[in-house]
Amino acid sequence: MPDDDFVVTPWRVEGQIDYDRLIEKFGTRRIDAAMLARIEGAAGEGHFMLRRGVFFSHRDLGSILDAHAARRPFFVYTGRGPSGSTHIGHLVPWVFAKWLQDRFGVMVYFQLTDDEKFFAKRDLTLDDTHGLARENALDFVALGFDPKRTRVVIDTRHIRHLYPIAAQVAKHINFSNTRATFGFGGETNIGMIFYTSIQSAMCYIEDAPVLIPLGVDQDPHFRLTRDVAPLIGRPKPALIHNVMMPPLQGAGGKMGSSDPNSAIFTTDTPAEIRKKVNKYAFSGGRPDVAEHRRLGGNPDVDVSYQYLRMFFEPDDARLAEVREAYSSGSMLTGELKSILVERASEYLGAHQQRREEARGGLDGYMMAE
Ligand code: TYM
Repeated sequence: MPDDDFVVTPWRVEGQIDYDRLIEKFGTRRIDAAMLARIEGAAGEGHFMLRRGVFFSHRDLGSILDAHAARRPFFVYTGRGPSGSTHIGHLVPWVFAKWLQDRFGVMVYFQLTDDEKFFAKRDLTLDDTHGLARENALDFVALGFDPKRTRVVIDTRHIRHLYPIAAQVAKHINFSNTRATFGFGGETNIGMIFYTSIQSAMCYIEDAPVLIPLGVDQDPHFRLTRDVAPLIGRPKPALIHNVMMPPLQGAGGKMGSSDPNSAIFTTDTPAEIRKKVNKYAFSGGRPDVAEHRRLGGNPDVDVSYQYLRMFFEPDDARLAEVREAYSSGSMLTGELKSILVERASEYLGAHQQRREEARGGLDGYMMAE
């Protein structure tokens, strides 16, 4: 790993991410107290993911809030590369996109990049990624987006809407830029090299400024888009970044769909969740009960606690109770794991029901061809 002990790119996240250093390296802005107050003021309420720093960084969020204050429209765009089942890390930016739609009444576009994952994954056919795109879209729709204000786009199906814009973008990105941004080499296929322009094109699907909630690993695509924007006479996309949910094993990298034991998937049963959490979830507990009771556990490294903080426990008072009990030693790791299993099973049980209900109505969310 070159000059750092962690790597964050759209196709690779490794090592223990130092988010302060990442902000510096990527050249983004931290969401400080003033920005937090501003977005909460504009929305009329807060969101636990903002308050707790799950969304920690941005680019030009202020310009979107300016537009909103001046009653000028903006829209929201996010996406998924269909390479496997959806896990709860993927849901983080989507839950936030839903909140933005509710609070600001905006259009939300959801891009499924079946072409990208076909290019990136040796073992997947285009039929595979196209099928996965539909399955992943169910997880998105299940979050309760307003059908009148939401459009799902699948790259290979809607390409004619994207291609004229992608061509504009592609003309201004040269190979040296992409190679430097993504670490491509001579063996990289040319689909991958062109792909960024397809992800960029969605920023201009409407003639209004865009706000993109996304995991920070996706930032490099839009760094290139932002460089190109003035050259094609378009506004720079604004971004709001979430941290990467750690794998169940903790310590570095991200929850990823390529390692089933690293992730809680939206389709997992309560038994599967319990088995995975009990077996793999990294614990901040002490080696034995006596020591744990005496010294307490460390919630900051405990993955079960972190999943509650980042996703499954929106109630601040309840989260604080868990933190206090675990840190003081009155709650053991097994008990903390049980709370996570219970909350996750409850959340995903309801999600799975809405996901099945979404199946019949999915076409109603698709962009017209
Ligand atoms: P993909 O499918 O890798 O991920 C979808 C979204 O989930 C975020 N994400 C995570 N967030 C928190 N913790 C994790 N462990 C985690 N893993 C993934 C990603 O950052 C992403 O926001 N090329 C994209 C698809 C795409 C897209 C977009 C994403 C197309 N247009 C616009 C964001 C915004 C991809 O492969 O995402």
